[in-house]
Amino acid sequence: MPDFTHASDKLTAEEKLRLLVEFGTRISSELHLDKLLDIIAQQITQMLDVGRCTIYLKDEEKQELWSKIAQGKGLEHTEIRIPLESEGIIALVAREGKTINLPNAYEDPRFPVDVDMVTAFRTHATIAVPLKNNSDEVLGVFQASNKSDGTPFDKNDEGLLRLLATLASGSIEIAQLYQEIRVAQLETIYRLAVTAEYRDQQDTRQHLKNISIIAYLVALALGMSKSEAELIKNASPLHDIGKVALADNILLKPGKLPPEEFEIMKSHTIYGGKILEGAHSKVLQVAHKMSLYHHEKWNGAGYPKGLKEEEIPLEARIVTVADVFDALCVFRVYKKAWKTEEALAYIVDEAGKSFDPRIVAAFKKVYPSVKRLYAHVSVNQPQNQTLPVAETTKFF
Ligand code: C2E
Ligand code: SIN
Ligand code: SIN
Ligand code: FE
Repeated sequence: MPDFTHASDKLTAEEKLRLLVEFGTRISSELHLDKLLDIIAQQITQMLDVGRCTIYLKDEEKQELWSKIAQGKGLEHTEIRIPLESEGIIALVAREGKTINLPNAYEDPRFPVDVDMVTAFRTHATIAVPLKNNSDEVLGVFQASNKSDGTPFDKNDEGLLRLLATLASGSIEIAQLYQEIRVAQLETIYRLAVTAEYRDQQDTRQHLKNISIIAYLVALALGMSKSEAELIKNASPLHDIGKVALADNILLKPGKLPPEEFEIMKSHTIYGGKILEGAHSKVLQVAHKMSLYHHEKWNGAGYPKGLKEEEIPLEARIVTVADVFDALCVFRVYKKAWKTEEALAYIVDEAGKSFDPRIVAAFKKVYPSVKRLYAHVSVNQPQNQTLPVAETTKFF
């Protein structure tokens, strides 16, 4: 990282240009909104040599401006929300699209001190510029505070900040769109999964959520990267999607299924495989493997294909352990809920038989966290806790 100290006044024009190009390159490769905003804020803090840079974005739906402000050395972020119609400088800049430059913030009645109070930061000089897109619409506000030399912000600083805002606006809009698509995709997956399991389980949402969390924890414990583990987390709710194809008289049958009906039940893996076959998105490709192979067993005694060991895709081997553990711990029309310890003992006992021993070992590591998910499950009752959809989709 080059030294940006006093970038706005000590660098040659050529050096400044190089820094701007670097800024543009770095931000254009980041599609994740939160990460992008962190990078922009860091870069501006260095290039303007200021104590803090805060980026506020407009939330059109709520008519608010929001920001996540990094605090201290850790990674904790405090979310700040400001009504668009309020009187402070940030809302004013967003509404009027004009820069506000305050040499001494606390002397100006338009400076709201509440943000400082929340974040334990003392603002002296501050400048806020509008963040506009190509159509001149205001997307938000860039604010920089406290130059390290203690002087007020001058025209050079203002020009540089406005230029950086212009350069950043395209990347921010793209990252916002990606975020919207991601959320929409996850919401669709989740609602599709709920549809598949709605008929046979009163606690569908909790069940899907628990399996997701278990699969995610196990994936991390196996040493997979966070993004790989997230893919598994997001795909796992679809593992039983093939159940949509089953008739009620089989799916909802109380008690044990006779062998010929269990044969039909088994076809939910084949149906799931067909539903998700040839998908383009990564998450649906993972879901395809999970839905087709989540009843295969390590020793080859599972279905539909009788694959064994590493012939079974890893993602499926992970979701199998999560699925069986969850199925054991909750009430079903054909079985009582087991105690979590009993379910754990079963999983451990099945290592090398039903389950991949490596995955069982990973499951044992995360078991203390898993156990907490089932703290409220009672032993013989159907679970009627229906979480509000908004709350459950937030999980993703
Ligand atoms: P599920 O209820 O979600 O169960 C998933 C898997 O958890 C089962 O896959 C099985 O491997 C494991 N599991 C669940 N309960 C028990 C249990 O009491 N003991 C043991 N040892 N393992 C258990 P499986 O067996 O391939 O079944 C797939 C699906 O077929 C089940 O999903 C359930 O929807 C249905 N099913 C299986 N057996 C019966 C049954 O006897 N009656 C009814 N009504 N449905 C059944
Ligand atoms: C099943 O999941 O196949 C039924 C469980 C049992 O054997 O009790
Ligand atoms: C069964 O199908 O009842 C056996 C449960 C398992 O090991 O998956
Ligand atoms: Fe299944």
